[in-house]
Amino acid sequence: MALIKIPSDDVTLRERAEVTAFLATHGIEYERWTPEHPVAPDASSEALLAAYAHEIDTLKQRGGYVTADVIDVKPDTPNLDMMLAKFSREHWHDEDEVRFIIEGRGLFHIHPKAGPVFAIEVEAGDLIRVPRGTHHWFDLCVDRRIRAIRLFQDSSGWTPHYTDSGVDKGFEPVCFGPAYVQRG
Ligand SMILES: [Fe+2]
Repeated sequence: MALIKIPSDDVTLRERAEVTAFLATHGIEYERWTPEHPVAPDASSEALLAAYAHEIDTLKQRGGYVTADVIDVKPDTPNLDMMLAKFSREHWHDEDEVRFIIEGRGLFHIHPKAGPVFAIEVEAGDLIRVPRGTHHWFDLCVDRRIRAIRLFQDSSGWTPHYTDSGVDKGFEPVCFGPAYVQRG
């Protein structure tokens, strides 16, 4: 279940209805997906795409997405720091950023045109669609683990366009879900 934190207002949203409604006001779609049949988080990419084929097809029709793949990031992924550095600075894309989380966690920060910056911590079962042009950045949590299905509108992929605003430097890239709070 995704969590929202709005640091400037000292607000954290933890209820599904609240999270969904808040994100919708910023044009961000949020859903929880369940597979058509049980599938292990470490199943092959093909098995994962098959298990969620219905949801993926529905989303494809709604958003004009043409391809789906699975990204798998672990602490020992080669050049992980370099890869993460590409997305931890404020940027935007020419196409939607669509992620369905299979395993692990991640932290999106969204910088809306109107309103304060907020963070979305995503975990397994969360589908998030950040519309094209939205200013945002992304970090992993301390366990540096995420496996996710991605959907693309253009198979040439998406290049980050950096804003160089420096806004991202004012926010801690720290996850705040229960597992991280307990750890102190
Ligand atoms: Fe991005």
